[in-house]
Amino acid sequence: MPLLEVKELRAAYGANEVLQGIDLQIEEGSITALLGANGAGKTTTLRALCQVMVKTAGSIQLGGTRIEGKSTEEIVRLGIAHVPDGRGTFQALTTEENLRLGAYLRRDKAAVAADFERIYSYFPRLKERRLQQAGTMSGGEQQMLAIGRALMLRPRLLLLDEPSFGLAPLVVRDIFEIMKRINQEEKVSILLVEQNAMLSLEVADSIYLLETGRIALHGTPRDIRDNDTVRRVYLGGA
Ligand SMILES: Nc1ncnc2c1ncn2[C@@H]1O[C@H](COP(=O)(O)OP(=O)(O)O)[C@@H](O)[C@H]1O
Ligand SMILES: [Mg+2]
Repeated sequence: MPLLEVKELRAAYGANEVLQGIDLQIEEGSITALLGANGAGKTTTLRALCQVMVKTAGSIQLGGTRIEGKSTEEIVRLGIAHVPDGRGTFQALTTEENLRLGAYLRRDKAAVAADFERIYSYFPRLKERRLQQAGTMSGGEQQMLAIGRALMLRPRLLLLDEPSFGLAPLVVRDIFEIMKRINQEEKVSILLVEQNAMLSLEVADSIYLLETGRIALHGTPRDIRDNDTVRRVYLGGA
């Protein structure tokens, strides 16, 4: 059974229907990338999965449990953590305070303390910036903090919305490497939304290509790389 199984998912902002019935599956332990041009509906897909800001129809199952129609808090409790576009860290709070907020749903205080250390071991920069206000940190550090905060929820599935956005190539490389380690060491499945197709093809196990609210293509990175249209449109003819 896949960890996440989505069928005929539709999502709308008021009368504006953006997702027109998409199907996708995420295997336990995998990194799945959702690629597509600006405006295709990638961000909306992540919002639909955790029922924020959009009205949805269709079915969403997490580990066999139907989650569509549940509250966002319940969905988080069931194991989906969402790192939204723009990162969503609390700018006036410190690194440590942001991480503590990430654990707000948890009762296991000793394990929470250990998780601080785990997150600092993935992101030593965050430990150095422990007492610094998030808003004064670099874009890369803020992205690390956003991911760290989501990990404090101990999710089964991590939704990342354009983690590379606005960051220098070397910083992006760093973050993608750490993401891969987290996927392997924590057994967290990841749904990665990206415009950076090249990099996603390197890290993902499975790729979906979204075009104006529909899945246009699904396959392994190799399938996608070999597709002529994709090469022309998304990979600059490479
Ligand atoms: N809060 C919103 N209210 C109304 N329309 C929205 C909202 N957010 C996004 N949209 C529309 O939904 C479509 C898909 O947007 P989005 O999911 O953000 O695409 P992507 O993340 O792939 O760039 C766009 O046409 C966008 O204008
Ligand atoms: Mg987006």
